[in-house]
Amino acid sequence: MSASITPVIGLIGGSGLYDIDGLQDREWRHVPTPWGAPSDQLLFGTLAGIRCVFLPRHGRGHPNPPSALNFRANIDALKRSGVTDVISLSAVGSLQEQYPPGHFVIVDQFIDRTFAREKSFFGPGCVAHVSVAHPTCPRLSDAIADAGAELGLPMTKGGTYLVMEGPQFSTKAESLLYRQWGCDVIGMTNMPEAKLAREAELCYASVAMVTDFDCWHPDHDHVTVDQVVKVLFSNADKARALVKALIPRIGAPRGPCEAGCDRALDHALITAPEM
Ligand code: ADE
Repeated sequence: MSASITPVIGLIGGSGLYDIDGLQDREWRHVPTPWGAPSDQLLFGTLAGIRCVFLPRHGRGHPNPPSALNFRANIDALKRSGVTDVISLSAVGSLQEQYPPGHFVIVDQFIDRTFAREKSFFGPGCVAHVSVAHPTCPRLSDAIADAGAELGLPMTKGGTYLVMEGPQFSTKAESLLYRQWGCDVIGMTNMPEAKLAREAELCYASVAMVTDFDCWHPDHDHVTVDQVVKVLFSNADKARALVKALIPRIGAPRGPCEAGCDRALDHALITAPEM
């Protein structure tokens, strides 16, 4: 396949990750969208000569809670900035003993339990149903796993992320239920982000960075922000190293996505064109 696409890498930073080091020719820019304002300005720059665009998901200083995030504006701002590939980084709780705080999971499935968010770019007048059976891009996920292995990071490829509405953490009954469902990690932000990335025909992969065992764990009867913050900043350091190792692996010109992420709308529109 011809190398017709020069990737532009979008990085969405979660709690604790409000900037990317090593970025050259840096410039924070407002990117307006028809959906309203994204969480913050976007940081444009290059890393190893590859164009990157960074968005702090909650805004610098973390002023925006998960339910108030304008996910459509965030994804659209990346898309209209020329981004082709999105790497999502976020703090999560662990639902499995083998994923202690400090562990990273490259998730490949989600259970979306959010209920108070705008979830689609489509609606009355133009209806589309994209497939999210496989919501992440295998090429990007493989590259993250390779970069993590090179750095010796504690990391697992493959896992299910339960996305809850928040902002409160789970009850113990919920936490135990999600474990019974086979979920691996829990957080508040990857949905509808991943669904919207698919509607925007962007390749999307997600690194879930464990900050705590959720309240199911016998040693962690409560989750507290203090616990989370203790791990957040060391995770953010590892995430910055991961990004540096990852970008050169995914920045070379390439052909269309083999999984079809960049053609998700080809068979998704159902409204008749003349309507
Ligand atoms: N983010 C970090 N830890 C979390 C948890 N235990 N539940 C939901 N979101 C989280």
